[in-house]
Amino acid sequence: MTAGLWVRTGSSRGYWFVLPADEVVLGRDLDVELPISDAEVSRRHAVIAPAAGERYAVRDLGSRNGTRVNGIPEAERVLEEGDLLQLGRTQFVFRARLPALRAGDAVELAPRRSTLASPGLVPAPGPPAAPAASAPASSAVTPPAAAAATPGDTRARAAPDDDRPGDPAAPPEILGEAPALLEVFAWIRRAAPVDSPVLLRGETGTGKELAARAIHGASPRRRRPFVALNCAAVPPDLFESELFGHARGAFTGAFTGKKGLVEMAEGGTLFLDEIGECPLAAQAKLLRVLDAREVLPVGAEQPRRVDFRLLAATHRDLSAAIEAGGFRSDLYFRIKVLEIVLPPLRERPQDIPLLADRFLEEFRRLNPAVHAFAPAALDLLRRYAWPGNVRELKNAIERAVLVAAGPRIEPEDFPLELRAGLSSPEAAGGTGTCGAAAETLLRDVERRHILRVLRLAEGNKTKAAALLGVDRGTLYNKLREFGL
Ligand SMILES: Nc1ncnc2c1ncn2[C@@H]1O[C@H](COP(=O)(O)OP(=O)(O)OP(=O)(O)O)[C@@H](O)[C@H]1O
Ligand SMILES: [Mg+2]
Repeated sequence: MTAGLWVRTGSSRGYWFVLPADEVVLGRDLDVELPISDAEVSRRHAVIAPAAGERYAVRDLGSRNGTRVNGIPEAERVLEEGDLLQLGRTQFVFRARLPALRAGDAVELAPRRSTLASPGLVPAPGPPAAPAASAPASSAVTPPAAAAATPGDTRARAAPDDDRPGDPAAPPEILGEAPALLEVFAWIRRAAPVDSPVLLRGETGTGKELAARAIHGASPRRRRPFVALNCAAVPPDLFESELFGHARGAFTGAFTGKKGLVEMAEGGTLFLDEIGECPLAAQAKLLRVLDAREVLPVGAEQPRRVDFRLLAATHRDLSAAIEAGGFRSDLYFRIKVLEIVLPPLRERPQDIPLLADRFLEEFRRLNPAVHAFAPAALDLLRRYAWPGNVRELKNAIERAVLVAAGPRIEPEDFPLELRAGLSSPEAAGGTGTCGAAAETLLRDVERRHILRVLRLAEGNKTKAAALLGVDRGTLYNKLREFGL
């Protein structure tokens, strides 16, 4: 057996590491078998060793940032064909059987002491192939792998595109180490390999969609489409046609037939967000589709077989909706075969610094001068109740990065509500009593942003106006308005 790791990220992207018959330690140290030049990788991060049944298993060696398989942190796990292994920022695709290496690409080429940054790895003879799926065109669809590679392609490096056959989109990284979140990881692990529906519950911004993508990304369906529909965003009279499709002439204006999202998710996963908002008539039809595994597009005569997995999310209490007559109890029991509850951020404050650091890194491109949080700012983040959960935290950090005047984010870079320990306007939907506060906040952000851009432009107002994307007159008006 020749198994290997295909390097998916970094400067060695596209190279193979052929696994030897004995243990391989992966880490940042130069004297491990597979050294990785990545600051987020621990010195001795993980080990891959042969396991029973001609397989390989990866074991985390107590690394700081953990070892993820298909996006889920794992202490130890047997690797399956196509698994995505992630250490720090570095990703590999595991192949149980390497595609034919060209004659001369000796199998024992497993490099000893050659870092991934200066590769001595086997150039990929081609991508880690798997049949490409044909993705339907829809904004709701995350397409699976794109075009197939030329057979026998012996490029030294793979092309820099991400959607390669056998190279599914990386599952999202769910960050956090709190016990309540570890419980969520355990449920995702359980839910991934099976086909049962899953109901994801939790307050707004807790990561329900992220968890749905993680389940898909760790499931055998991961190379097929992930199709998401926000049930609250579809007008009720269009709902059935959107979900189940329609035949040509099914209703006025239906000049052509249209595939529904259920069919677009063929072989993959259908994610129904806010399922509590699904109209009652469509609920009955959805239940039938789940039971019969076939769909009847609106106005069509023949049902069509479908193969998809349903994931659903809600922030509402569906049992109350059932009592009020707004949700069918039979559908409820059908979709909550597995139930995963995402904990609110206020119940896992220990995760806040981790999340905050990651978001700071993500948004630093907006203002590269910013490097860190002032201790008082971090303290503020820890104490706030975050009614909008992780989404609110992410937004607050994006805004703080944008308005920070120095290298550190200070408490005053956060919205007034946050500083006062109140609920923020976006968490409350930005309506009603929070309206005035939201306006003050916006003006505050705008003023600071203009000041920062002026500083960047070294006081040159023409340049500042260009950077801000407004004309000079508008900038002058704003400066007057803010008394600058
Ligand atoms: N644990 C986490 N680690 C990293 N990012 C997270 C985490 N949880 C949530 N996020 C981020 O927060 C934002 C909101 O997450 P998501 O859309 O999954 O929430 P949701 O529960 O579906 O919210 P809603 O009910 O409002 O639709 C996204 O940008 C997501 O990437
Ligand atoms: Mg959502």
